[in-house]
Amino acid sequence: MYPFPHRHLLAIEGLEQPYIADLLDLAESYALLNRQGKTQRDLLKGRTLINLFFEDSTRTRTSFELAGKRLGADIVNMSVSTSSVNKGETLLDTAATLNAMQTDLLVVRHGISGAPALLAQKVDAAVINAGDGTHEHPTQALLDALTIRRRKGRLEGLTVAICGDVLHSRVARSNIHLLLAMNSRVRVVGPPTLIPAEAARLGVEVHHHMKTGLKDADVVMMLRLQKERMTGGLVPSAREFFRFYGLDAEKLAWAKPDAIVMHPGPMNRGVEIDSAVADDPARSVIGEQVEMGVAVRMAVLDTLARGLRRNA
Ligand code: CP
Repeated sequence: MYPFPHRHLLAIEGLEQPYIADLLDLAESYALLNRQGKTQRDLLKGRTLINLFFEDSTRTRTSFELAGKRLGADIVNMSVSTSSVNKGETLLDTAATLNAMQTDLLVVRHGISGAPALLAQKVDAAVINAGDGTHEHPTQALLDALTIRRRKGRLEGLTVAICGDVLHSRVARSNIHLLLAMNSRVRVVGPPTLIPAEAARLGVEVHHHMKTGLKDADVVMMLRLQKERMTGGLVPSAREFFRFYGLDAEKLAWAKPDAIVMHPGPMNRGVEIDSAVADDPARSVIGEQVEMGVAVRMAVLDTLARGLRRNA
């Protein structure tokens, strides 16, 4: 295994292919241990991990907590809604306070793109971006890649269709960077109002119709329609969005017969995905994505903690 050359995990963009492959290999070994009910409680013994979430989360926050516990770390889940942030304390002052408590690993979710990168410049801890604005969600892309690799045996050469609200999706951005780095073919599919202008520049195919976007796809990745980040009327109505872009059995038939269906969660059932598809065990890997989330976060915590030891 290569020594990981970065102190923090702030983005997939710029992360070189061998390090992505190493993280996925390590996560695969943790997935196996997790299924066997084995733990590694000595690896992060004596390390402190703080979950600092300024936006809501179910999967990411819980899986970082589980991952840290399985590796033996001391975990603090900071509740921002009852913290001194409500009394006007700034992000940087909050970070300085946590830093003074000898935090080793700081997991940050924030509504503003770049907030974790800003914190990383100010603290001694290794910072992990758990989702920042519309920028990136690197551990989500890693767990998606691990899920695909386990189901398809590889990433190289696969056609992955990322569908729906690409414009507001940090998940899409991280997945695009990761999948291109691993030599997958990436398509983004959605209405022109929900596809970012820079999509083609990133090296992905742009489709505005599900029929062409899903044709012969190996992987269909649906995204949540992020109404809370929309400033104008970018889609006419949820019902119309579902009619043209919601994944149902009829549209899924345009992909390869063995195409898998993914969604990072939380899902808007009946808006971007039909329940019959989301809950179909023959096609949907949504539950496995959540399971791989714990393994990937164990791999990331383990890898960054090794870097702290090297630099101590
Ligand atoms: N996929 C994801 O980030 O889910 P949460 O918002 O529940 O963490």
